[in-house]
Amino acid sequence: MIKAHTMKGIILAGGTGTRLRPLTLVTSKQLLPIYDKPMVFYPLQTLLNAGIKDILIIVAPERAGDFLHVLGSGKEWGAKFTYEIQDKPAGLADAFRIGASFIDDGSVTMILGDNLFLGKDEEVHDAITTFTSGGRVFAREVSDARPFGVVEFDADGKVLSIEEKPTQPKSNFALIGLYIFDHQVVEIAKNLVPSARGEIEITDIHKAYLERGQLDVRMYTGEWLDTGTPSSLLKAGLLVAKAQGEKIE
Ligand code: DAU
Repeated sequence: MIKAHTMKGIILAGGTGTRLRPLTLVTSKQLLPIYDKPMVFYPLQTLLNAGIKDILIIVAPERAGDFLHVLGSGKEWGAKFTYEIQDKPAGLADAFRIGASFIDDGSVTMILGDNLFLGKDEEVHDAITTFTSGGRVFAREVSDARPFGVVEFDADGKVLSIEEKPTQPKSNFALIGLYIFDHQVVEIAKNLVPSARGEIEITDIHKAYLERGQLDVRMYTGEWLDTGTPSSLLKAGLLVAKAQGEKIE
C-alpha cells in the first residue's frame, strides 16, 4: 500500500519590516497586533483550519526568541511547530531551500506571515485537502495589482503569463500569499537564480510549474490583506474588529 503523505505547513515570517519602522523596532512585523491578536495568529489559524498540524515557522535571527515566546511548541494549538532561521531575506522562494529536509518527499502549503485570509476558509480547506501533486496557487482580484505577483488568463481561464510586480499589469489578478506545492518545489527552488532585486522569487516557482503544465490557479473570493504598510495594518485591524461585531467610530 502506498502511504499517503500528510500536508505540511510553512509560515514565512522573516524579513526586516522596514516599511513598518519604528513599529518593527519593537518586534517582528508578524507579531504586531491586528486588533486583538498578533498578526501571525491569522495565517496560523488558516493552516490549522485546513487540518495542517506539522508547521515550520521561518523567522529572522534577531526575532527568533519573540516567536518562541509567543507561539511555543504548538502543543497549545494541537500542533507541532518547528523553527528555522533565515539569516538574510533572500526571497520568498528561499523558504523551500531552508525547509528542504522538512518537506522531504511530501507536499507543503506555505503561507506568508503577513497575509490575512478572512471569511472563506472553505476555499483554502478544499484546495489543500484535494491536492495531489504539482502546484496550486490562489488569485484574487485587486484594484491595483502592481505591488504583487500578477496572473493573466485567456477567455477560458487558462494561464497566459505570470509576472512579479509589473509596472503595467496585464490583469487585476494578484497571486496571493498561500502556495501549495509537491516535493518538486525543493529542486525548483534550488535551481533558481536571484532576480534584478536580488531575491529568489516565488513567481519563478509558479512559472516552473506552469512550464511543466502542473500549475493550478484557483480563485480566493474572501477578504485578503497583505499587511505590509502602516495603513494596511490599520485597515486589517478595523476589518477584523468589524468581523467580530465591534463598533469602532
Ligand atoms: O502578498 C502577496 C505577494 O507577496 C505576492 O503577490 C508576490 O508575488 C510576492 O513576491 C510577495 O510580494 P511582497 O512584496 O508582498 O513580499 P515581501 O517582500 O513583503 O515579503 C512577504 C512576507 O515574507 C513578509 O512578511 C516578509 C517575509 N519575507 C520576505 C522575504 C523577501 C521573509 O520572511 N523572507 C524573505 O526573504
